[in-house]
Amino acid sequence: MNKNIVCIGAGYIGGPTMAVIAKMNPDRRVIVVDINKERIAAWNSKDFNLPIYEPGLVEIVKEVRGRNLFFSTDIKKAVRDCDIVFVGVNTPTKMFGKGAGRASDLQYWEATARNIKDWAKCPKVVVEKSTLPVRTAAAMDAILNSEVKVRGESERRMFTVLSNPEFLAEGTAIKDLLDPDRVLIGGPQDTPGQAAVQAVVDIYLGAAGNWVPRTRILTTNVWSAELTKLAANAFLAQRVSSINAIAGLCEATGADVDEVAQVIGADKRIGPKFLKAGPGFGGSCFKKDVLNLVYLCETFGLHTAAEYWMGVIKMNDHQQERIVSRLFKEMFNTLANKKIALFGFAFKADTGDTRETPAGTVARLLADEHVNLTITDPKALGNAKNDLRDLKGVVYEIDPYKAAKGADAVVLMTDWALYPTLDWAKIYATMRKPATVFDTRNCLDATNLRKLGFRVLNIGK
Ligand code: NAD
Ligand code: UGA
Repeated sequence: MNKNIVCIGAGYIGGPTMAVIAKMNPDRRVIVVDINKERIAAWNSKDFNLPIYEPGLVEIVKEVRGRNLFFSTDIKKAVRDCDIVFVGVNTPTKMFGKGAGRASDLQYWEATARNIKDWAKCPKVVVEKSTLPVRTAAAMDAILNSEVKVRGESERRMFTVLSNPEFLAEGTAIKDLLDPDRVLIGGPQDTPGQAAVQAVVDIYLGAAGNWVPRTRILTTNVWSAELTKLAANAFLAQRVSSINAIAGLCEATGADVDEVAQVIGADKRIGPKFLKAGPGFGGSCFKKDVLNLVYLCETFGLHTAAEYWMGVIKMNDHQQERIVSRLFKEMFNTLANKKIALFGFAFKADTGDTRETPAGTVARLLADEHVNLTITDPKALGNAKNDLRDLKGVVYEIDPYKAAKGADAVVLMTDWALYPTLDWAKIYATMRKPATVFDTRNCLDATNLRKLGFRVLNIGK
């Protein structure tokens, strides 16, 4: 087996993951390929104007690009030359036919598998990096290994399909990749399957054996690995929905959700993470993966389990509706022609990603109320413009001071570290009075804002 690696899909997962694999394995040649020419051109751009923003990414790409990391659109050649093929293409929610709105759309995955089969000249390990429904590997195995001649036990499979789901979070991708809580590799339990698993374990150990400690590399059967990824995202999403459900009750009763979360989280059995109330979870994966779990439960006749997980999504959607209706009430039951500045459009801080961002839903609900909307964000304005291209009259402004000028309300949607450091007295002076701040991330100093004259709304307070 040669040491070369190819990754099909140069997106949020393929780019950062392979950059770190290349950094920690200087003895391997890593090629990231994609059908999207613009994306590959951006990864190869002379001025390192990469297609995604992720803290620490550009430094690593500068170190390894051209050394042992390469970006290309020549997928056929890359697949031929490598023995280990990671597949990190997108797996969005299917929007048509059976399972529409819930199941994963696997057409990109299947197209990739068929291409690998057509182009490969020697046995390969195919690694699922994308998040996939449980038992996808069985379908992949059936496609890849159809028509392959059976000669002997060791040559039984031309392709071995493994599952190596990725747990990184955007905004902390590089940190998560360099020092992961765990790496999960699922593979067939037979001898060639276990050899393939070992080949991928070796990648994560790193060339010098100093990357992921062996005790943190967990190996399971393929189905457990596929299901674990969906379950892990569902558990995280469920915690966010749970604390947001408590937030509504806090607002109604005078309890403070941050105090409640702090004390709940002090219980070691619960732990403090993922208990921050806010505008609801966004990002490309939580909703898609929970819906996928719902679909799987339904498919296997587990209707009560499906309803349980659907509740996580319903609670999340409700959170953005609640934000707009509270603002509506606070602003004298009419928002028409009022100027509202959304501070932040990315689904979380430290990313330019706006997929499923709660700010997008809030922007649309405000547009329905005929609000004059201005949006500011340090990294996501390009994506915001694209996402809301059908909404007329929205102003996009990089400078938060200019965005707030003349506004009736600022609605803080993304927890960028920049926002608490702004000169809020200066912002207050330029806004129309009464001036409202709705801090949906509870990250500003509400006492100080009130002293300055603002009316302040928070989540769960
Ligand atoms: P993405 O849309 O950013 O990137 C996917 C890339 O695959 C695109 O550039 C697309 O052009 C390319 N592609 C699609 N079909 C192709 C084909 N046939 N040949 C070559 N390239 C092709 O998506 P992403 O955010 O990187 O997510 C990819 C997968 O990783 C998803 O299954 C997702 O659930 C999973 N995942 C994502 C994250 C994350 O933080 N974004 C984290 C963990 C897991
Ligand atoms: C999430 C998981 O954390 C990763 O482990 C997983 O690999 C990834 O999904 C994926 O499969 O794509 P990500 O969506 O990038 O990562 O970011 P998170 O930090 O999980 O945040 C998700 C959303 O929940 C954000 O909108 C965030 O603001 C929100 N959130 C998170 C809260 O509202 N409260 C919290 O306490 C935590």
